[in-house]
Amino acid sequence: MTYNIAIDGPAGAGKSTIAKRVSGELSFIYVDTGAMYRSIALYLLRKDISATDVETVKVALEDIEIAIQYVNGEQHVLLNGEDVSGQIRTEEVGNMASKSSALPCVRAKLLELQKKLAREHDVVMDGRDIGTNILPDAQLKIYLTASVDTRASRRYKELIEKGTDCDLEAIKKDIEQRDYQDMHRETAPLMQAKDAVYLDSSDMTIDQVVEKIKSLAK
Ligand code: C5P
Repeated sequence: MTYNIAIDGPAGAGKSTIAKRVSGELSFIYVDTGAMYRSIALYLLRKDISATDVETVKVALEDIEIAIQYVNGEQHVLLNGEDVSGQIRTEEVGNMASKSSALPCVRAKLLELQKKLAREHDVVMDGRDIGTNILPDAQLKIYLTASVDTRASRRYKELIEKGTDCDLEAIKKDIEQRDYQDMHRETAPLMQAKDAVYLDSSDMTIDQVVEKIKSLAK
């Protein structure tokens, strides 16, 4: 049997940084499910398909194949064989992913791939509905969050370090809107699983969060 750790939480809570570190230290694989939703969003953006046009999205999904592969331990997402890992990291794609991932047909498309990875490997999987929906039997579930201000200023710093011009207030608004969309959709909304451990990382360092999760896993 495989050991599965599910980490859910809102945008910018540090899930991917933490999940990468924990998986590396435990020799598990890291599965970033947001990247899968982002890849579908990228496809829809490229084809100029709106997330409100459900019938067209359904038809488009038939032409989409999402796969993942690991290069030096890093997850790469393949969209119809093309490595789109770099292109899915924009705010535009993130916002589109938040809209399109609310559609049941989009979620159904990725469900089996996510479950299969967890069946076959020890994983740290992060997302929005991993503990509640994808891996209800995960041995450890974490709900990782942080205040909106903390998340916005972390994101701001990240962008400034990359040399991207940005505005703190706009980032904050974006995060609030994404939280709202993710928490209020009908299908698989973001929420804490009953048996998940709640961790607020606002006043914790990355090391502290990683150590906490590792000690819970033991
Ligand atoms: O985590 P990330 O910001 O990459 O996710 C992008 C969007 O994909 C989220 O805002 C959310 O709407 C969606 N998502 C989801 N379920 C997941 C992972 C991501 O709905 N398991």
